[in-house]
Amino acid sequence: MNQQNMGESMHGTFRLRRSVLTVPANKDKMVAKALQRGADQVMLDLEDSVPPGEKKGAREIAARSFPELAWGSVTRCLRINGMDTPFAYRDLVDVVERAGEHIDTVVVPKACSGAQIEAVAMLLDQIEANTGQAGGIGLEAIVEDAQGMLRVEEIAMASSRLEALVFGVADYGASLRMPSRGASGHGEEDPDYPGHKWHYPLSRLLMAARAAGLQAIDAPYGDYGDPEGLERSCRMSAALGYDGKWAVHPDQIETVNRVFTPDESDYERCRRILEAFEHARTRGEGVISLDGEMVDAASIRVAREVCAKWERIREKQRPDPGT
Ligand code: GLV
Ligand code: MG
Repeated sequence: MNQQNMGESMHGTFRLRRSVLTVPANKDKMVAKALQRGADQVMLDLEDSVPPGEKKGAREIAARSFPELAWGSVTRCLRINGMDTPFAYRDLVDVVERAGEHIDTVVVPKACSGAQIEAVAMLLDQIEANTGQAGGIGLEAIVEDAQGMLRVEEIAMASSRLEALVFGVADYGASLRMPSRGASGHGEEDPDYPGHKWHYPLSRLLMAARAAGLQAIDAPYGDYGDPEGLERSCRMSAALGYDGKWAVHPDQIETVNRVFTPDESDYERCRRILEAFEHARTRGEGVISLDGEMVDAASIRVAREVCAKWERIREKQRPDPGT
């Protein structure tokens, strides 16, 4: 079970993940541009957006891009291939040996058991020990098939390196043999289903993530020419409690960041809750109240998270003193 607070890395850093821009690691120009688009996290992909014949070149670009590009406050993330493919071990060894000190998290796709996550964590332990790296690369697991969803709790609890679970809607739909209605994800209406057909997996993954103290990140909205659908899809997962969403195109980032930013009034209330908590603590008072209402432990935890998120957003908006 993870001991850190939701959203915190092993070293206690809060990572902002409102938007995660995915970019194929074999396209070096796209990789360089991706860092300038305002995403909280950029994920260099070695998996499904890279054809099998280009995996080696993509690893090379990733190994150079982490240390050499100016990432600033953007979280540096690498998606390896699935642990049941012949590519995954080389993805880890080749990229992390060279660039591990410059990588914040590794994303494990098609996660279908806790053992797979433990295996990645063990390999990282060995690479970090052998190369004298400080260590502490975090993990994110994409749950995107029937097996993974059945074992989502086990996956969520598998390693103290885990920081987030991600719902991979495209592969999940395919794994369940849902008839495809395009690549858009769950913002689409489905006239044939009287309810929200993604509610169960979205909720189940969120619960497992929260029980393990992890962030929950939603899949991308594939149709980047449909801003209304994107907005609807973001609002849906934000309403459930998700922390952020992937973006497959830079034009999606503004909407995703906006929807997953807490309201200022929310932040103000959370700040006052923490003030009331601090005040009560210094006076040795057990009961905390704000505006005549009792504040429970869960509200304090949420208040901490909202304030941490807000402060990271503010930091990100401050101009870099070096520019
Ligand atoms: C992401 O990997 C997805 O399958 O949606
Ligand atoms: Mg996928």
